[in-house]
Amino acid sequence: MRKPLIAGNWKMHGDSPFVARYAAALADAGPSAGVEVLLLPPAPYVAPLAQALEAAGAGLQVALGVQNVHGEASGAFTGELSAEMARDLGAAWTLVGHSERRALFGETDEVVAGKLAAAARAGLAPMLCVGETLAEREAGSAEAVVRRQLRVVAGEAGPAVLASATVAYEPVWAIGTGRTATPGQAQAMHEVVRSEIETLCGADAAGRLRVLYGGSVKPDNAAALLAQPDIDGALVGGASLDADSFAAIVAAAGGAA
Ligand code: PGA
Repeated sequence: MRKPLIAGNWKMHGDSPFVARYAAALADAGPSAGVEVLLLPPAPYVAPLAQALEAAGAGLQVALGVQNVHGEASGAFTGELSAEMARDLGAAWTLVGHSERRALFGETDEVVAGKLAAAARAGLAPMLCVGETLAEREAGSAEAVVRRQLRVVAGEAGPAVLASATVAYEPVWAIGTGRTATPGQAQAMHEVVRSEIETLCGADAAGRLRVLYGGSVKPDNAAALLAQPDIDGALVGGASLDADSFAAIVAAAGGAA
């Protein structure tokens, strides 16, 4: 039985007043039994958000993480943040290989694998993002792309590291576009992810590992997506910036569990 996980990726949004308002609104919405909740603010806001959630009485209900880490523990990498530092400052999770990092910051599958290994080494729970672009889907290669993204990580970081991750399947054409994969399209790709994990890491790992869907998840489409047997939660971008919308998606996961 895989416990549903709803993660909110704030991307590069938010400021101090937003953090305070958000924590209070999320605490007002109350806990949702049987659902794990994770927020991924910009790294400098992890500690303030932890404090604000604690003060609002929601500290224990929400895990926190960062959106990216460097592959090295320390060194001459101006502007970068290591997994060890994120952990030291209170993050429990990190995203790895989000499509915006791959597309805008040139992260290859090999770089992504290095970051996943770094997260595991530092004791951060990694969420590995995979997914095809529109051109790749239209060319009929969505499945092959996602299998390759997983295979390179297993090859470079080792199958045990991959098995310890959570995977987020995010079709790039659905991110921030309002164009969600249908529940059927998403389920089909989640089956592909799980079968590739089985090949790379074994049946036990494939049965245990959570595969989240991401890409224009909103309160009104969350329940249908989360009802699919291989969709174990959601990675939410835009809709996570509104605490009430995010809480509604968490509640939908509670209903689907
Ligand atoms: P979106 O973003 O929900 O705004 O489509 C998802 C993501 O990028 O993780």
